[in-house]
Formats: sequence, C-alpha cells, structure tokens
Amino acid sequence: MTAKTSKKSKGEYLVRDIGLADFGRKEIEIAEYEMPGLMATREKYRAAKPLAGIRIMGCLHMTIQTAVLIETLAELGADLRWCSCNIFSTQDHAAAAIAKRGIPIFAYKGESIQEYWEFVMKAMIWPDGKGPDQIVDDGGDATGLVHMGVKGELDPAFLKTAPKSADEKAIFGILKDIRKKDRKFWQKIAAGIRGVSEETTTGIHRLNHLAKAGELLFPAINVNDSVTKSKFDNVYGCRHSLPDGIKRAMDVLLSGKQVVVCGYGDVGKGCAEAMKNERARVIVTEVDPICALQACMAGFQVARVEDALKTADVYVTCTGNCRVITAKHMAGMKDQAIVCNIGHFDDEIDVAGLKAVKGIKVTEIKGHECPVHKYTFPDGHSIYLLAEGRLVNLGCATGHPNFVMSCSFSNQVLAQIEIASKKLEKQVYLIPKKLDEEVARLHLAKCGAKLSKLTQEQADYIGVKVSGPFKPEGYRY
Ligand SMILES: NC(=O)c1ccc[n+]([C@@H]2O[C@H](COP(=O)([O-])OP(=O)(O)OC[C@H]3O[C@@H](n4cnc5c(N)ncnc54)[C@H](O)[C@@H]3O)[C@@H](O)[C@H]2O)c1
Repeated sequence: MTAKTSKKSKGEYLVRDIGLADFGRKEIEIAEYEMPGLMATREKYRAAKPLAGIRIMGCLHMTIQTAVLIETLAELGADLRWCSCNIFSTQDHAAAAIAKRGIPIFAYKGESIQEYWEFVMKAMIWPDGKGPDQIVDDGGDATGLVHMGVKGELDPAFLKTAPKSADEKAIFGILKDIRKKDRKFWQKIAAGIRGVSEETTTGIHRLNHLAKAGELLFPAINVNDSVTKSKFDNVYGCRHSLPDGIKRAMDVLLSGKQVVVCGYGDVGKGCAEAMKNERARVIVTEVDPICALQACMAGFQVARVEDALKTADVYVTCTGNCRVITAKHMAGMKDQAIVCNIGHFDDEIDVAGLKAVKGIKVTEIKGHECPVHKYTFPDGHSIYLLAEGRLVNLGCATGHPNFVMSCSFSNQVLAQIEIASKKLEKQVYLIPKKLDEEVARLHLAKCGAKLSKLTQEQADYIGVKVSGPFKPEGYRY
C-alpha cells in the first residue's frame, strides 16, 4: 500500500491516511491525561517558550505518546519536523493528527527501507534548505546519517565501499545523490546542529563510540541513562508491551510455555518478569556474570540458547547486540517456535542469515499492521518470526503505554531545553540528577503516592540536602 501524500497550507506531510486524524486526536487526549510529567512541563515553560524558533528534527517512533511529546515541544515554541525511527512503529492515526495540526510529519506503518531513509531526509531538511538546530533521536539513525554524510564528503572513498546492509545501500544512494549537487552539504548541516538528545541504549552506544574516537560532531544528551528513563521505560515499558506484541501477533497462551529471554539488562529484566507473570517457564541467557547472577536471584534458569533449542517455544532477544539468535539456531529449533526481538534493529535475530538459508520457504501470515512470517526449513519444521525481527512491541503492538513514556519524554523535553539554553561541548552529557528526581516527582500524584520529607537532622545525618538530590551520582537504584 502506498502512503497518501498531500500538501497543506501550513506545511507538508506524508502519512497513510489524513482521515485518521480525528481518531488520533481522541487518543492523544486520553494520553494527555496519563502523561502528567509532559503536561506539567508544558505548564511550567509555556510562557517562557525556551524553544522559541528552534528547529527540532525528531526521528523517533511516531506513536500517540510521541504526538504528546511533539505537541509539548511545539507549545514551548519549537519549529518541528518529524519521522519515525522504525519502519513498523508508526501509529497512522497519531501521524495523521500531527499532520492535521500543521506539523510536517513523514511516517507511516510499513515503510520500505528506502522510504524510511527518504523520510529521515525530509524531516532533516527545512523548506529553505537548512537543517535542524537540534535533533531528538532514538537509536541514532538521524545522528548517524549526519556523521556518515560528513564522512562521505571528507573521504569520498567511504561511499565507494560495499554497503553492508539494505539500510547502508539506501543511505549511500542518498548521500551520493546529494554529493553530486553540493559537496559541503553535510558539513553545513552538522555545523548548524547545537546538539542531539538520544532516547535509547543502542543510540548511546553509538554516541559514546563517536565521542571516544573524537568524531562526535555536536553535543549529545543521554536521555536513556536518566534513572526515570532506563529504569522505567526499558523495564516497566517492556514488561507491558512485550506480552502485548506477542499476543497480538500470535494470540498464543504463554502460560506453561518455555520462553527464552536473551539478555538480562534493563529490558531483559522487564521481559523476563512479564513472561514469569504470564506463568511461562523462563530461561535467561547472559554473557555478563553480574546480570546472570541477578537472573538466578530472581528465580530464572540461566542457560545458553543452544541448551534450549529442543524445548523452547518462544525466544525474545533484548541484548542490543548482533546475531544473538543465528540462522543455525533457528534451523535447530522445535517446530512452530516463535522468535522475536525487543532490543534493537533486525540483526539481534540474524534475519538476513535466515532468509539466505538454502531452500527456506517464507509464508506471510499477517502484513504490515502486525507482521508475522512463517519460515519453513527444508527439513519441514517451521518457526514464526514477528515484526521481521524488528521491535516486536512497536511492530506488532503499540509500544509502551502513556504513563511510562511520560517519564521518558519529560527527560527529552528537559534535554532539548538544556541544549537550547546552554553552550555544550562535543561530549555526551547526562541529565542532572535533580531534574531526574523532578521527573519522578511529577508522576507521583497520579499513583496516589505521598512523599516523606527529610528533617534537617536526617538530611545532615545521611549527608544530603533536604530538597535532594537524595543519592550520589553512582547510585544504581
Ligand atoms: N523495544 C523497546 O521499547 C526498547 C526500549 C528500551 C530499550 N530498547 C533497546 O533494547 C536493547 C537493550 O537495552 P537495555 O537497556 O536492556 O541494555 P542493557 O545494556 O541494560 O542490557 C543488555 C544486556 O544484554 C547482555 N548481552 C549482550 N550480548 C549478549 C549475548 N550475546 N547473549 C546474551 N546476553 C547478551 C548484556 O550483558 C546486557 O546485560 C537496546 O538495543 C535498547 O536500545 C528497546
């Protein structure tokens, strides 16, 4: 299905169906009620408009919750353009509602990889040909594109290397086309960027890598490692949205099934708990002895993928690593095993390797609305791959719920204000703990929580201020 395109007087957009805007608006209104942190941020900064006139490009799942983030940034004065960061994660009614209010948005559920990168470009470049002042990124694709663009201009041999993936093929094509017209295009774009706020673990890995190599082109704020992001979104968000994704895809009873969760970091902890709550029999795989021991203490069996192949019914990857489940693993799985990923990208499960198995037969069970494919091996056994190996919670369900995204996105707004208001170095910064505590505070009333207050004597006794921060920087929560 091709996306409906149209132009409005207020700006351009590219969404599946603008007629879904009213439905989107109704769901945005429900979400606002469940996103107290974002709404409080609007109240606090509405008059001051700290983002007035600042061009913000967003590359982050175009969901209902993101719509509330976008409208918060708009209320603070930002001039926005947006695309999704995943070909399957857009909620088309959310995109339509944002388009209808006149914010340029380029996203629909089920984009091709080529379209995906074209949409990143559309969100990146304003009608006057200039780029963004600031980026909201999730997974590092927008930031990565700018860095690859600059690299291709400074070292043209880079663009002549063989692309290693379908994404790289699309990116190289776009970069080569731009280079024909303007050999300094990306250097100008990069020079105009004040900074990026990055949402997720994998994006932070990429930023740290660039910073360590001295190649980071602009400052970055690490939103992921705010406690109110990674210890909430990654854990409780995935605890909610993993079973949602698996059930919408397969309508399978998880109770009694053997489920292998690969990785027991923040996401893995939420996923393993969710599967345990479903009364599944959970096996965890880990490479880190500390996380492995934590899994044991939580009552999970720790084993290797190979040990579970003959018995496991469901596999979930959440390592942020590549080829954790290989084609060879899938060839050895029991018939009708379900395989999905909630980590990052489509190479935690080696989808390319799976497709390359000689004689493999692929049957589409469900299309882009909730992608499910059956892969039948030459020996006759099959496995089900959800969301084509991409994020199952966003590909087959609607991602994390409002309340948890309110925590994550309150951090995003604070990070964007920080970038707009301070002169930062080309480093990766954390959000100050006091603001992290503030994000949590904004969500307490909704849970009916009443916070105790330290006396001065108690504060002195444990060596903190009465008003916080309440923990030292390295505290692990
Ligand atoms: N789908 C979502 O909604 C969502 C939300 C948040 C984060 N993420 C993504 O999930 C991934 C994990 O995030 P996280 O915050 O849990 O990271 P994390 O670093 O806390 O956890 C990853 C864990 O995987 C383990 N690991 C690495 N390689 C492994 C291997 N080969 N086998 C077994 N274990 C291995 C690591 O030791 C670590 O404990 C990242 O890619 C992140 O971007 C997804």
